[in-house]
Amino acid sequence: MTAQDKFRKAPPAPARRPGQAGAFPGQPAKASRPQRTDAGKPRQSSGHGRRNRGFVPDAEALGSWERDPAKLPQEDFSVHLAPRGFLGTLLEELGERTVTVFGRLVLAEGTEPAAWAQTSWLNPRWMPVKSIKDAASQLAAIQRNWRAHRPELVQGCNRRMALVEEALPHISQRPLAFGDPAPTAPLGAFTLWTPGLMLAASRTTSPFPDGEVHFEENKSDPPGRAYLKLWESFTLLGLRPGPGDLCIDLGAAPGSWTWVLAGLGARVFSIDKAPLDEAIARRSNVNHCLGSGFGLDPAAVGQVDWLFSDMICYPARLLALVRQWLAQGSMRHALCTLKFQSDTDHETARAFAAIPGSRLRHLSCNRHELTWFWEANPES
Ligand SMILES: C[S@@+](CC[C@H](N)C(=O)[O-])C[C@H]1O[C@@H](n2cnc3c(N)ncnc32)[C@H](O)[C@@H]1O
Repeated sequence: MTAQDKFRKAPPAPARRPGQAGAFPGQPAKASRPQRTDAGKPRQSSGHGRRNRGFVPDAEALGSWERDPAKLPQEDFSVHLAPRGFLGTLLEELGERTVTVFGRLVLAEGTEPAAWAQTSWLNPRWMPVKSIKDAASQLAAIQRNWRAHRPELVQGCNRRMALVEEALPHISQRPLAFGDPAPTAPLGAFTLWTPGLMLAASRTTSPFPDGEVHFEENKSDPPGRAYLKLWESFTLLGLRPGPGDLCIDLGAAPGSWTWVLAGLGARVFSIDKAPLDEAIARRSNVNHCLGSGFGLDPAAVGQVDWLFSDMICYPARLLALVRQWLAQGSMRHALCTLKFQSDTDHETARAFAAIPGSRLRHLSCNRHELTWFWEANPES
């Protein structure tokens, strides 16, 4: 049976009750959850982690940072924080825009976004400081919420920054439960460039400190940790599939994404060359097809609410597939992982980012990957 034939047999949309909320899969109860035991099913590897060939130790690209205030940019510059292990990749993306590097922070000319930034500081400014108390009161005069960026590998002023933070209002570091909204209050970021010079920005692209989102993880139900990519994406977007939405999940095995989507009440049509975890495949709103995600013709599918892909494939091949789906004009949202080999295909990443209605970013749980999100009607 081809993927198309199997798709036609996918479960029909259940009647949606007005105002019906989707259950959040695995939303942990307040009591502690049972941990996976040795007797439990072995976790299948989803191919992520430090084995990823794109991993480069940050220390290699550190260098020394420009400390002379006269040589530092004063306007029309931005600050991008590289994900751990991907400073070199961010520097490749920024190219000649790079001014100087401080730990994982990169000062760059201009204010264009950077996909390989974990978070970007949007309105950075230099603030001379006389003392810890002076630094804290200058920040507090701007807004309530601030978090320091303390470089891990640079011998700098980390102790002083901790003291500045202590003098500021407390910011919760509690891990999120999936379904909790992202914070909406502006969160500023600062660092001590030298003991007497602070770099601070009241606006950053991520509402989370250093752009890192930490969840109360579910270690028992999903068959791998890839579910965190969807939890993080849906939290950052403030958007997720609803009950009865038709979701196509390409490269679905062993099934963590399908587990999230099915738990939200969506109808999931998943495709992979490998089978899904049995408990997930058995769910009534999941229909799995063994085959290639490239074999499903968008023209044969009709209206789709969400197209997902976590397939291991060249980004350029994924781009060609996504263009077919876009040309068909039959999907409302798409969310795909661009997975890179040892070299990062920046050209294809830029082509994804240039698709109108797109967002391209590095999630905190991405390794040598970017997550591309697209929606048909961003305004509606
Ligand atoms: C990183 S894993 C996906 C993990 C999955 N999202 C989850 O949550 O469990 C990548 C998957 O892509 C699948 N894959 C690779 N090429 C594919 C293709 N052409 N069509 C469908 N699946 C493919 C692999 O079999 C593998 O299961």
